[in-house]
Amino acid sequence: MAASLVAVLALAATALGATIVLSLLPYRAPSTDSVLTSRIHRTLDPVSSRNEPLEFSNCGRVWVTVHSPEIKEAGHPTLVDALEVNWDFAGCSSVPQNIGIFQSRPTSWSEAVWYHSISEPEGFILTDLSLGAETLPGGWLSGPGTRGPHCLWPWVGAGDDQIQAYNCLKIQPTWMEDNAEKISSLRIGELAIPGAHNAGAWRFNTEISNLARDSFVLCQDRSIWAQLVHGIRYLDFRIGYYDFYQNEDDRYWLNHNLVRVRPIVPLLREIRIFLDTTKEVVFLDAHHFPMGFYDQKGSPLQHAHAGFLDIVKRELGPHLAFASDFATPAGTRGPTVQSLLDADKRLVFSYVDNSIVNQNNWLWPVLPHLWANTNSPTQLFQYLDQAITAHPQPNARSPLYSAMAQTTPTILDIVFLRGSLRENADAVNRNVTARLATRWRQHANIVSTDFFLGDDVIDLSIALSVERGSRL
Ligand SMILES: *[C@@H]1O[C@H](CO)[C@@H](O)[C@H](O)[C@H]1NC(C)=O
Repeated sequence: MAASLVAVLALAATALGATIVLSLLPYRAPSTDSVLTSRIHRTLDPVSSRNEPLEFSNCGRVWVTVHSPEIKEAGHPTLVDALEVNWDFAGCSSVPQNIGIFQSRPTSWSEAVWYHSISEPEGFILTDLSLGAETLPGGWLSGPGTRGPHCLWPWVGAGDDQIQAYNCLKIQPTWMEDNAEKISSLRIGELAIPGAHNAGAWRFNTEISNLARDSFVLCQDRSIWAQLVHGIRYLDFRIGYYDFYQNEDDRYWLNHNLVRVRPIVPLLREIRIFLDTTKEVVFLDAHHFPMGFYDQKGSPLQHAHAGFLDIVKRELGPHLAFASDFATPAGTRGPTVQSLLDADKRLVFSYVDNSIVNQNNWLWPVLPHLWANTNSPTQLFQYLDQAITAHPQPNARSPLYSAMAQTTPTILDIVFLRGSLRENADAVNRNVTARLATRWRQHANIVSTDFFLGDDVIDLSIALSVERGSRL
């Protein structure tokens, strides 16, 4: 008990540290901080959130996203984390005339802090409001909070004179438990799972850098804890080994290719606290070992792999679902969620090297990544449309597969500083949301994106998992 309290406090310190540095003043603040705080507390009230849904519409949907690139306009401070309102009323008998942003559940237009008229059946508008300081509602900022979804401050409403559809930007910290009755009979390969590409690359923490934003290395901007609290359940890790550190723990880093981003042990501890304090299933994928794990001929360096596996067992051991206990034959979709819950083994750890998997029967085999390896959004979607349709493959060893829904810059893009990962994410994330709701709806398993606040993959994946579970 004492030990876990210390761990929770340590996590609180990390999360708060991150919050303070990441907090950037809203550009055109919708209200004073105190009003904002009191509104947030109102939405946290467990009684009101139990009685009324956080999302409502009779036909179509509205949702809030966060614009991933910053916006620079002459004469204005740089605007970061600008809110976007999105709507899709395709197929409905009429399209609402207005859309707006509110600080609590929308009831009348007089409460809107921003609004705009619309005429197209689907689309989005970038607003000049910032999400503001990073926070996690419901008591989840520094440790486990209240079960169920909770709203961050921005709500979106659409309608004519009356509000007909609304939604908020949410966290979904316990979505698997909240929907357990509907999804637990699904096999893990039948779930729709929201994933974070390069999940550990969210802020530098090295001897020389604590940068939170850069052009070509960082793929996320929320901590691992915050990603899990938001609802991400698949974490794609890229790991480097640096033997010049004395201490074994200090040798293992989260990398993006050859760039060291942050030490890995603290990230495993954030996952541990999440598993200790929820009933969620987490999929962790050691997917790339760009540094220090292989010799020049490409043979695995056994001590580097063994040291890493020891650390994973030490930090996450009690939660590991051993592949030897739960695996199902090739070409099948793996264990049911219920069987993992019954055994209380809720961490599925896959490893990108099957020679190491063969020596360690607890590891899950290579989890295929559907990776287009292109910097063109058009080619990305052409590739994913066919690849997702062709999966799951009949003889697949892994029950899972991940659609890597991001473009990859070329060396020349990086050398000539053409664009950035934030701009690349902005160019595809809305289309990823639209694709998951339509063409990928039946087949998609894990969908991994960069800067996931710019898409709606979390809420959509939950809805799809529930939909699939209801069909069983
Ligand atoms: C993304 O969606 C928009 C709106 O539907 C469309 O105009 C655009 O062509 C799509 N981009 C890609 C790369 O598919």
